[in-house]
Amino acid sequence: MSLKDELIQDRLPAHVAIIMDGNGRWAKKRGNSRVFGHKHGVTAVREVTEAAAELGVGYLTLYAFSTENWSRPKTEVDALMSLLVSTISSETATLMKNNVKLNAIGCKESLPKGVQSKLETCIEKTSTNTGLTLTLALSYSSRWEIIEAVKKVVQDVKDNQLDVSKIDADVISGKMATAGIPDPELMIRTSGEHRISNFLLWQLAYSELYFCDILWPDFRRDDFYRALLDFQGRERRFGKTGDQIKK
Ligand code: FPP
Repeated sequence: MSLKDELIQDRLPAHVAIIMDGNGRWAKKRGNSRVFGHKHGVTAVREVTEAAAELGVGYLTLYAFSTENWSRPKTEVDALMSLLVSTISSETATLMKNNVKLNAIGCKESLPKGVQSKLETCIEKTSTNTGLTLTLALSYSSRWEIIEAVKKVVQDVKDNQLDVSKIDADVISGKMATAGIPDPELMIRTSGEHRISNFLLWQLAYSELYFCDILWPDFRRDDFYRALLDFQGRERRFGKTGDQIKK
């Protein structure tokens, strides 16, 4: 039986978030530049997106470029931005074929105009697709997102649109860049690092965390299925006791 066949269809996570890590080390192991690793990372992005779409996972969020990544060498940042432009262009047809809707979160205004315009075009083109929603976190950090959300809440209070006593978790979630998207049930990080790195800190409150040693450019469908199988073997308690959950 293949790994895919072992999955229980009605216990798939509605939302999977991934920290795609290890591109630089993958390239270094091959005596190549870090950019070489990023280029090969695109194959893994395609495989996981297609696998998630095929399975019927509702949402896939990929950490593609963090706020902190702006401080990498300019050559690497420029190459990553070019790679985004070329990948979004070349993959739009595949997204359409797989009924995938593209979305982006992060400080989009800080991205080069070329990236902004390709993103907008692809988001518009795929907007009526009804399958997987693929969200790219670009120039994103969770603290940035929380600061933006706080500003919106304060503005609503100042404008008398919101009473302070009414501020609850739903209000805050509604001000996040991910408003309308369910919180991830599973977060995967590749490359053996065990950190959250400023990614979806609010949304990951009850997520199952899965870490594997595989470097991102080597991550394939079967690795994704393994993570999903691991998730399906876990008991999610949300603060309750194991006995309460089994009832
Ligand atoms: C982390 O590896 C990866 C990134 C910062 C960039 C991720 C980008 C891609 C996978 C390619 C393009 C993506 C899309 C969505 C088109 P790292 O560079 O930090 O690796 P290291 O930890 O080994 O140095």
